[in-house]
Amino acid sequence: MSFASKTVPTRPFDGQKPGTSGLRKAVPVFQQTHYTENFVQCTLSAGLGDKIVGSTLVVGGDGRFYGTETTSLIIKICAANGVGKLLIGQNGIFSTPAVSCVIRKYQTNGGIILTASHNPGGPNGDFGIKFNTANGGPAPEGVTSAIYEGTKTISEYKICPDLEVDFSKLGTQSFTVDGRQFVVDVLDSVTDYVDYMKEIFDFEAIRELLGGGDGQSGFQILLDAMHGVTGPYVKRILCTELGAPESSAVNCTPLPDFGGHHPDPNLTYAASLVEELKKGKHSFGAAFDGDGDRNMILGKNAFFVTPSDSLAVIANNLECIPYFKKSPAKGFARSMPTAGAVDRVAKQKGLQCYEVPTGWKFFGNLMDAGRLSICGEESFGTGSDHIREKDGIWAVLAWLSVLADKKQGVEDILMEHWKKYGRNFFTRYDYENCESAPANQMMKNLEDLIADPAVIGGTHCHGDKTYKVTKADNFEYTDPIDKSVTKKQGIRIIFEDDSRIIFRLSGTGSSGATIRMYVEGYESNPSKYALDAQVVLKPLVEIALQVSQLRELTGRQEPTVIT
Ligand code: G1P
Ligand code: ZN
Repeated sequence: MSFASKTVPTRPFDGQKPGTSGLRKAVPVFQQTHYTENFVQCTLSAGLGDKIVGSTLVVGGDGRFYGTETTSLIIKICAANGVGKLLIGQNGIFSTPAVSCVIRKYQTNGGIILTASHNPGGPNGDFGIKFNTANGGPAPEGVTSAIYEGTKTISEYKICPDLEVDFSKLGTQSFTVDGRQFVVDVLDSVTDYVDYMKEIFDFEAIRELLGGGDGQSGFQILLDAMHGVTGPYVKRILCTELGAPESSAVNCTPLPDFGGHHPDPNLTYAASLVEELKKGKHSFGAAFDGDGDRNMILGKNAFFVTPSDSLAVIANNLECIPYFKKSPAKGFARSMPTAGAVDRVAKQKGLQCYEVPTGWKFFGNLMDAGRLSICGEESFGTGSDHIREKDGIWAVLAWLSVLADKKQGVEDILMEHWKKYGRNFFTRYDYENCESAPANQMMKNLEDLIADPAVIGGTHCHGDKTYKVTKADNFEYTDPIDKSVTKKQGIRIIFEDDSRIIFRLSGTGSSGATIRMYVEGYESNPSKYALDAQVVLKPLVEIALQVSQLRELTGRQEPTVIT
């Protein structure tokens, strides 16, 4: 069938600035006339440049409200701009890790992901458009700023208004647009990803752990997809392929509003999983966020594995994963606020450990340069160089591989790990949806505080604990590969015993300001390993609150979420 494109006059809108994970706003913003069209046009122009004509892109999202409408628009705008081929997940569904996997497998020019990650969905919830480049990872700063610049001056976009493509139907559909061929390939959302996981992990070993298909092993698991995109992946991989009973997978139907919940796998928003695990029936539990890149790991009786420890345990046990037998670990990395547990593993193994700013794209450069194999963030992100996004299902398969190999429970594995390396206690306090002015004021005050040389050597006391400041700065990162410098990534106050308190404002929240306060303390006394992080870190938490005057400035007495 033949179609003609047309050029539509438009005008720039305010606020189309993409953040660290693409452009995120509330759905009604995207629904404004031409808002989505503008951003998609600028994404193609800046993201692909002179490669647009004849290019191939992957398109998919987490199934949230407004995804279908946006997918249709993307098809029409891509066709009119001369894109040659789109690989679209059936019904517009792809998890974020699956998009990264498909971009790399088919060596496309990039991809567009429709998600607002862990933020709520629905008609009044959040939506987002994210561009990933040909390496499968989030677009680097240069590209996102070029997109933003485009949105400030855009005066027209191209669209092929009559081109309607049924992307619920698997297979290839070909069209002629302005005399050029335009192909839409609708792919099964799960198949390429599953095939890849089978190459990375020993599915037989995990299948045996899970009871060889009859679910009778006594090792019961519970996976909560939180009505996000991971549902179909969990069902196919864990149930169909690995033999876990259907009852092991809950909330696995992706819903446009995530059932009204906040699809963020942490102790607050995944509380129902925590409650189930507390009953002691399951030996392992996990939850995923809306787009499937985050994960939370729990052991029997809801034993919580901090993401910082999860990363360290996986890094310490890579021999359980065939992928790393074939290509041994090159290096490890964590985001700056993530606790330093993995640093200790790296040291023991004689590997480099990088500390990068928050946001996955910083890992991608190191991976592309062959310097990094395993990395993670305290914000429930874990992954490796198999793709260029964090990967929730991968993390669960990594954990199941370790459990299958070591034949120990989750808690025992952690205890053994701490006995070897000591324990990096960690907690994060999130104050969501604060007013922006006081939050900015707090950060400003902290800036002023660290600028004063007298802060170094100063002591802070709480109860019988005294901490002496040895370093205070606003974290700055020089990328070892491209030498780019990223400044002001978080205020750090570091004490003599390596304990740290860190403050950042979130770059991904969609309303008001979200303050994140990170607290870390290292302990090498085995009698303390089993203690609750909240108890151990209480003095540092109090010091952090007092130094920042957070309660006084924001009026918030308690955080929204404690991790
Ligand atoms: C948050 C996390 C960060 C993660 C990002 C995207 O960003 O803290 O680690 O990379 O989401 O998932 P923030 O809201 O803190 O800027
Ligand atoms: Zn996410």
